[in-house]
Amino acid sequence: MGFDRSFAVNISATYGDPRMPEYVLGHHLKGEGKRLALMSELLDPMHRRYLQSLGVVKSGARTLEVGCGNGSISAWLARQVAPDGRAMAVDLDLSLVDVRLSNLEFCKADILAGPVEPGSFDLVTARAVLHHVPDAEKAMANLVASLRPGGAILLIEFMGRLLDTDSQRTSRGFD
Ligand SMILES: C[S@@+](CC[C@H](N)C(=O)[O-])C[C@H]1O[C@@H](n2cnc3c(N)ncnc32)[C@H](O)[C@@H]1O
Repeated sequence: MGFDRSFAVNISATYGDPRMPEYVLGHHLKGEGKRLALMSELLDPMHRRYLQSLGVVKSGARTLEVGCGNGSISAWLARQVAPDGRAMAVDLDLSLVDVRLSNLEFCKADILAGPVEPGSFDLVTARAVLHHVPDAEKAMANLVASLRPGGAILLIEFMGRLLDTDSQRTSRGFD
């Protein structure tokens, strides 16, 4: 199977530029809901396992997910911390969120604008978000500043390999 050059160039433009000026996969795009659902199906089991291994996701905890997409991980977090805990889910665009729970709060915000309720969360997590923001270091600083002292942070990001169509080599997928 071959890839044409425009596909390779698009991959490079999407994952290779560390200074992406704005989010390029808007929720209004055709098929974006399906893409997020597929990400949830493929990545949530691994994400949940890592979250569980941190030992802080338990009843009574306060959790924050930034770049929540459709909200599937935040919904899981809300169920884990119930009945007394609270989950917050932040995204630039909440139009594809498809879950409602009494202890799950959604907030439309840009993580580059500042920390979320500084110093208050037992857990902060983000998946496949930092490679989209124009200033990942600032975003990470704001995520860390949202944690309470001793809290845990879990960031999951893709490490893509660029496709090289000229030499017939193909990507071996995500690291
Ligand atoms: C590739 S999607 C990943 C969604 C979800 N985390 C997942 O892994 O299924 C990236 C998400 O991050 C959000 N996002 C991008 N830049 C953001 C920012 N600066 N602040 C908050 N959310 C952002 C997008 O709106 C989108 O929902």
